[in-house]
Amino acid sequence: MKSVLFSRFFILLPWILIVIIMLDVDTRRPSPPLTPRPYFSPYAAARGGPRLPLRRAGPVRGVEKLNESRQQPPPQPQLPTIYAITPTYSRPVQKAELTRLANTFRQVAQLHWILVEDAAARSELVSRFLARAGLPSTHLHVPTPRRYKRPGLPRATEQRNAGLAWLRQRHQHQRAQPGVLFFADDDNTYSLELFQEMRTTRKVSVWPVGLVGGRRYERPLVENGKVVGWYTGWRADRPFAIDMAGFAVSLQVILSNPKAVFKRRGSQPGMQESDFLKQITTVEELEPKANNCTKVLVWHTRTEKVNLANEPKYHLDTVKIEV
Ligand code: UGA
Ligand code: MN
Repeated sequence: MKSVLFSRFFILLPWILIVIIMLDVDTRRPSPPLTPRPYFSPYAAARGGPRLPLRRAGPVRGVEKLNESRQQPPPQPQLPTIYAITPTYSRPVQKAELTRLANTFRQVAQLHWILVEDAAARSELVSRFLARAGLPSTHLHVPTPRRYKRPGLPRATEQRNAGLAWLRQRHQHQRAQPGVLFFADDDNTYSLELFQEMRTTRKVSVWPVGLVGGRRYERPLVENGKVVGWYTGWRADRPFAIDMAGFAVSLQVILSNPKAVFKRRGSQPGMQESDFLKQITTVEELEPKANNCTKVLVWHTRTEKVNLANEPKYHLDTVKIEV
């Protein structure tokens, strides 16, 4: 009797062991996700707007939050917010320009777009556009006085100042969060690398700009890590011979110089950048970016005026279409 029991036990033992091992392996295997996990814009989702694919590289706080329970990412130091101030005005290419710009900005983590319309009121076109852009944004407006709307006079002075005023107001009472401001005209072309470079701005940073000043590029000349002059084909006597697209300023500097603004009075054409930078920094203090200012990461592109010679005045289309 005893030997029968023993033999049964030894026959069953390997099977019991196999079952135990199988169960153990199965529970260790990571379960496949129920649904594929795309990246969603937390902003678009919050608005109930369309869900737009978001930057795949780099830390994005909202996205990390969504995936927190699954991935447990290592704690990230807070990325400085990039505030992009964009003056914009109504013209046939406006929506196309804003579309290009939003497509770029949407790929940049922690960017806040301050769009300032040169208009007496916020337009429907821009409001609708921003609502669907899937970006954290602020929509402002201020009209340029008629007397300043003349060729040869600086553009977008009032709009950039409105953006500055908003930033200062927003950070009036709280300790300044890390942030970087830059002026992003709506017609330029921006590489994604540019944003990585400007994000580490401590006070005021500078870099080359392509297709500007009558040359293939303009750039700050750098020696031993310091700006010592300017490579430019136009008015080399400017204190800061740099285009609006060629610099960024830390939020801290903007807040600690509350009176620094763009000026109409006394400002000559092409001197807006210098007049502004003079108020907040010195050439010696500038931080060269883009490999000691040897890489072009932004281009001063200008869109051709569209030919609307065949646009009908009377026999209009049967539907109204926003362009
Ligand atoms: C150059 C500089 O790159 C600009 O930063 C500078 O503001 C401008 O000169 C100037 O003359 O003041 P440019 O390509 O000639 O740029 O100027 P635009 O691109 O036509 O205008 C600069 C920005 O101001 C754009 O974002 C544009 O949308 C906006 N803008 C222009 C207005 O808001 N209102 C206007 O009437 C014209
Ligand atoms: Mn331009």
